[in-house]
Amino acid sequence: MKKERSSFTSRIGFVLAAAGSAVGLGNLWRFPYLAAKYGGGTFLLVYIILAITFGFTLMIAEIAIGRKTRLSCIGAYRSLDKRFGFLGWLASLVPVIITPYYCVIGGWVMKYLAEFLTGNGLETASDSYFGSFTAVSLPGILGTPVTWFVIYVLINATVVLFGVEKGIEKVSRVMMPVLVILSIIIAGYSLTIPGAIDGLKYYLLPRMEDFSIYTVLAAMGQLFYSMSLAMGIMITYGSYMQKDNMLEHSVTQIEVFDTGFAIIAGMMIIPAMVAFSGGDTSLVRESAGAGLMFGVLPKVFESMLFGNVIGTVFFLLVLLAALTSSISLMETIVSIIVDKAKIGRKPAAILVTIGVLLLGMLSCLGYGPLAAIAPLGMAFLDFFDFISNSIMMPIVAFLTCILVGHIVGPKMVIDEVETSGTFRRKKLFVVMVRWIAPVMLLMILATEILKFFG
Ligand code: PFF
Repeated sequence: MKKERSSFTSRIGFVLAAAGSAVGLGNLWRFPYLAAKYGGGTFLLVYIILAITFGFTLMIAEIAIGRKTRLSCIGAYRSLDKRFGFLGWLASLVPVIITPYYCVIGGWVMKYLAEFLTGNGLETASDSYFGSFTAVSLPGILGTPVTWFVIYVLINATVVLFGVEKGIEKVSRVMMPVLVILSIIIAGYSLTIPGAIDGLKYYLLPRMEDFSIYTVLAAMGQLFYSMSLAMGIMITYGSYMQKDNMLEHSVTQIEVFDTGFAIIAGMMIIPAMVAFSGGDTSLVRESAGAGLMFGVLPKVFESMLFGNVIGTVFFLLVLLAALTSSISLMETIVSIIVDKAKIGRKPAAILVTIGVLLLGMLSCLGYGPLAAIAPLGMAFLDFFDFISNSIMMPIVAFLTCILVGHIVGPKMVIDEVETSGTFRRKKLFVVMVRWIAPVMLLMILATEILKFFG
């Protein structure tokens, strides 16, 4: 008997699953620090414009490709055009680069959760805490980022090995709305900190002088990351989507949810950060980096009533959001290996775990013992983040636009969208996928390459 491809049973089921993959550390950890660094309101505006034009185009194209071909990304690209088989491989490589360092940050979240759980959370609210935690020196390895990273990876591996992700997903579906509500409460509280209103202005009001190609570059990289685009994931999700599921409507909902959540996360962190820096936004720009969430939030909790309890609940929910994302990232790699190398799920999962541990260890030690080896002048974690978001994803996105816009033609996507309702932003889609998106992506790539190798 031919095996039927299983599918999501309801439209909302699809939206929730895709949103579950999209919402993660990208929204809570990555978005706020990029927004703080690249000019607050200017970054926010650029990001929103890109999300409703560019992000929309790519997401609808990827989901439509998946639903039409009923294949995951390697097979899907090849079935559209034989010459594009390599693109599926390239896209699949992105999760291989992201997963290890994603797990390192997952480990940081666990460390902070552990501190709050044991009642020591407020001690993390010092300027140097995060720096000295990540700048681990090897002799006393216990309790360092290495330990937390290994624990985090093993939790992921256990879930992937025993296939209990359905359970995790159920829990996270209930917890996700709680995380949104808690984030709104924390954001509201942050705004009451003296000086936070200046921070809110920095975060919401765009200023022309802050705009540069680097703002666009950072916003675009973030868009791919946050919406799980240009890495084959949405193609796979699309392949499980039912034909009568209104595609455009679902895409809009995923976008609104993902972007809305990122905006709230920024609201929680940036105004407070500006307040703690005495209103000096140039200081905010300079110091915003991978540690932002960990440096600022404990200070917010410190000034709150029941700060320890709120911090505990918060980091627990962040951990859950991170886990659902990293499990689906790891699962993607495992299923590619099972499909292509024709080995069983167990050996594949073990192989992936070892790979993640080895590769992630570089990122883990990159702020400490390995700080001297700085590829392209960056710490390992930032380097992997850069390679995937600023180089590989734009290349995958560019080639996807060429394939859809000029080789198979946008009609393929349009027909697929229209099998389940009208396509309201059809004109926008066609112009974006054929011209604007590829030209922008080329400009972005050229800028990056000139910056580093020019
Ligand atoms: N989009 C996720 C985030 O913003 O954290 C990251 C991610 C998760 C990417 C799962 C891909 C994926 F399959």
